[in-house]
Amino acid sequence: MLDKITALKEEIAALTAENSDQAEELRIKYLSKKGLIPQLFSEFKTVPVEQKKAVGQAINELKVFATDKINELKAGFESNESAGQGIDLTLPGEAMKLGSRHPLSIVRNEINGIFTRLGFTIAEGPEIEDDWHVFSALNFPEEHPARDMQDTFFIEKDPDVLLRTHTSSVQVRVMEKMQPPIRSIFPGRVFRNEAISARAHCIFHQIEGLYVDENVSFADLKQTLMYFAKELFGEKTKIRLRPSYFPFTEPSAEMDVSCSICGGKGCNVCKYTGWLEILGCGMVDPNVLESCNIDSKKFTGFAFGMGIERITMLKYGIKDLRLFFENDTRFLNQFNSAY
Ligand code: PHE
Repeated sequence: MLDKITALKEEIAALTAENSDQAEELRIKYLSKKGLIPQLFSEFKTVPVEQKKAVGQAINELKVFATDKINELKAGFESNESAGQGIDLTLPGEAMKLGSRHPLSIVRNEINGIFTRLGFTIAEGPEIEDDWHVFSALNFPEEHPARDMQDTFFIEKDPDVLLRTHTSSVQVRVMEKMQPPIRSIFPGRVFRNEAISARAHCIFHQIEGLYVDENVSFADLKQTLMYFAKELFGEKTKIRLRPSYFPFTEPSAEMDVSCSICGGKGCNVCKYTGWLEILGCGMVDPNVLESCNIDSKKFTGFAFGMGIERITMLKYGIKDLRLFFENDTRFLNQFNSAY
């Protein structure tokens, strides 16, 4: 009996299986109710009394040994098979979802790009300003309506602490700090006390530009803006300057571009005029240069300013300005650009 047990143990020690089914077959063969090891237990009855202890111990050890061995065989397959289960290693990986840039950032970056290619630098300034940089240095008379509570957000009771209503304040800061030649643009957020609607918001974005040097003329302004309009709206774009008024420029103008939607033929975006108004501009008023300690006899300059929301709406045919601020991904995901 003991020899038989030893032989079985050697046999079991040498067992191998190629998959879990084979391992299961081995379990049935050795350990199931009618398997070889339980059979030993029935034979045990015939063992002489004096051998019972040794044989009993040997059978028990064999059972533990066989159970361990077969479990070991099975475990090998379980970890392999479950690791591989349900995975097709030839499938392509899951694509990473990329976000998209905000349309206002796309257009701002595009405009920044056009002017930096012309040699303009980019300057930024504070959103909370004082009266001097937003109004006084820019030749706004004391009683100008823009200074009114209705147009300007004041932060404290002190009328000298306010949210800038245009980024012209940065023009002043740059001119105060450096002497011509100055060639810079000023992108940034501005604030006006306006009721929110499809066409207006109390927070919006501007890009203004300034060029001050000797002999800067209105022709330079016009040429720069024409280049800008063609770069932004396409080679066929025409521009038109209409006389206007700003306290800080003289003469002043508003610039229209030929409607990029209908090509100038007339549509509901350009209200059948063929033209879209996109910016204000003019020659820097000598008073402004003097306020910033720049010699207005020696230097002249031009300035311009535009709203990024308005240009983005025209470029993409967006009808409601509030969409820019709602952060609805269904809207935002539609904009893809290298910028
Ligand atoms: N600052 C003006 C505005 O906010 C725009 C402008 C800038 C006009 C420079 C002329 C020259 O509307």
